[in-house]
Amino acid sequence: MHKIIIDTDPGIDDSLAIAYAIAHPEIDLIGLTTIFGNVTIDQATTNALQVLPAFGGTADVARGAANPISIEGNTPSHHVHGANGFGGYDFPESDQKEVALSAAEYLVEKTKQHPGEITICAVGPLTNLALALKLDPTITSRVKEVVIMGGAVFYPGNVTPVAEANFWNDPHAADQALAANWPMTLAPMDCTMPVIFNEHDMDMIARDNEKMGIPLKEMSQFYINFYRNVAGLDGLVPHDVMALMWVTAPGAFTVRRCAVSVVTEGPAIGQSIGLPAGKMTLSDAFKDRPDLNVLVDTDINMFRADYFSTLKAVG
Ligand code: BDR
Ligand code: CA
Repeated sequence: MHKIIIDTDPGIDDSLAIAYAIAHPEIDLIGLTTIFGNVTIDQATTNALQVLPAFGGTADVARGAANPISIEGNTPSHHVHGANGFGGYDFPESDQKEVALSAAEYLVEKTKQHPGEITICAVGPLTNLALALKLDPTITSRVKEVVIMGGAVFYPGNVTPVAEANFWNDPHAADQALAANWPMTLAPMDCTMPVIFNEHDMDMIARDNEKMGIPLKEMSQFYINFYRNVAGLDGLVPHDVMALMWVTAPGAFTVRRCAVSVVTEGPAIGQSIGLPAGKMTLSDAFKDRPDLNVLVDTDINMFRADYFSTLKAVG
């Protein structure tokens, strides 16, 4: 079993990822740590507390940071995920309460309780990871792996020509997380953008698994409209699911070893720059930076079949 904590700003594709984690027979979802990004931290925490029981999950929820570590916060992505983060879909009120620890404290404590066993799948801005590293730098030796959905390495950005949203929302935190010496895999836009779920796919998910699929289909309409109007795509991109599927089906991805640095100021703020392993550079930005797995492409059929069958199996 993979013990997983998802660090998340729910979020429509975040919800697709949370559903997958709850449904997957090899994942033990132990916690959601929340982060600002798609929505404010208050909304992200409310959303995490609502989506979990609605999908039949029983994990902890720990509240994370409200703001980036160095820059002023950007406006939440209401144009992508709707005002409430769920494209206007309303889950029932939740009885679940958040735990007393902050997200950073929770990450430190859980990796102490289960050394070498916890995989952190971070699918929002990386502020909580940077705060956890500051709180206890030895966390790097206790995590099994950190899997990050963020960045656009050999691919254009989605909020600026070069920056992807999660890194753009806290570039300093992203840079610190990528500089840390923990086992790490990056799922950037290079691997997310080839995969599309269209309206028929969401109808199928709703038929196969009503509990998860109906809310996912309803909230996805907003997200699909965004992709149609802004990107000219015939469906949504399930970005955040990639971070989970790397754990359960790594064969679905093409991997390139690179060191990755994030630009923290100027017009390219939030850009992720990859230095392929073994290549030399004169830039100080890569000094002592570890090589990590960068997922540069995805087997679309394998990804889609795995996602749809995982939700169907518990429908
Ligand atoms: C990332 O930004 C958010 O809008 C999504 O939830 C995803 O984590 C994609 O750039
Ligand atoms: Ca997200």
